[in-house]
Amino acid sequence: MIGKDVLGIREMTKDDLLEILDTAGEMKKILVGNKNSDILRGKTIVTIFFEPSTRTRLSFEMAAKYLGAHFGNIETKTSSVVKGESLIDTVRTVEKMKADVIVVRHNMSGAPHLMAKYLDASVINAGDGLNEHPTQALLDLMTIREKKGFFDGLKVVIVGDIVHSRVARSNVWGLQKLGAEVRLVGPATLLPKTFEKLGAKVYYDIDKAIDGVDVVMGLRIQLERQKNGLFPSKDEFSKYFGITEERMKLAKKDAILMHPGPINRNVELTSKAANATYSVIEEQVTNGVAVRMALLKILCERRKSNEISY
Ligand code: CP
Repeated sequence: MIGKDVLGIREMTKDDLLEILDTAGEMKKILVGNKNSDILRGKTIVTIFFEPSTRTRLSFEMAAKYLGAHFGNIETKTSSVVKGESLIDTVRTVEKMKADVIVVRHNMSGAPHLMAKYLDASVINAGDGLNEHPTQALLDLMTIREKKGFFDGLKVVIVGDIVHSRVARSNVWGLQKLGAEVRLVGPATLLPKTFEKLGAKVYYDIDKAIDGVDVVMGLRIQLERQKNGLFPSKDEFSKYFGITEERMKLAKKDAILMHPGPINRNVELTSKAANATYSVIEEQVTNGVAVRMALLKILCERRKSNEISY
């Protein structure tokens, strides 16, 4: 059962995932309707991002506001973090201003888990190092369910910079818990064979990996996490592992193309593929708001039913 915090998909059960997806479906009605609800009236949500973000941070802000919450954001570059204040001192300060939910992105794997131990406020992991990006996986799962209607036996291939991808890890956990088959493909320098231990099938030939799949998921190449060159050039990556219209023809006829964004166009996928009718990349963004509305609602309801006994 979902408790005080949302730290990763790894800890969630199939029932947790389905509860969130069902709630997100309800939230989407508000989102595409009048965007005006008082479900979170009196609650306070704060975002604190130690890494850049467009989609995740803003969608949490919109989710909170659409549901009637108070909202605050800490800009880490202009906060007392730059004066040397520790992570725990920073978030405890936020909590003492009566935040109910603190949403954090951090370059250190495990930072949200550490915070959660020190806080009565609920913590949502908006991406921690290489570990997990649970809300991205949840919006991906929501989009797949909307488009395909089922997970059992669904074939999903995740392409590219797997080793640096918290999105890939969260999706591997989530998709398998819901019954999908997950394939991973990328250059050997970005995809250690050990990923098989997560239950996924590992490929080094993109054409074989895409063959007959229902869902193709590209990933951003995370150059900021690569100390040494792990592939010769972006052109070479694109030639051997880029998702093109030609390669999409190897997937099932009704396959969809996903990408968490931001996209490096014509590296991870061609612009033509990104803009094609099978691309659901923009729908993923909209579902990101619905999923985050759902998580805020569920956590705030749990807090109420526990009378903040965490
Ligand atoms: N997908 C994702 O996490 O995007 P942002 O970095 O823009 O939040």
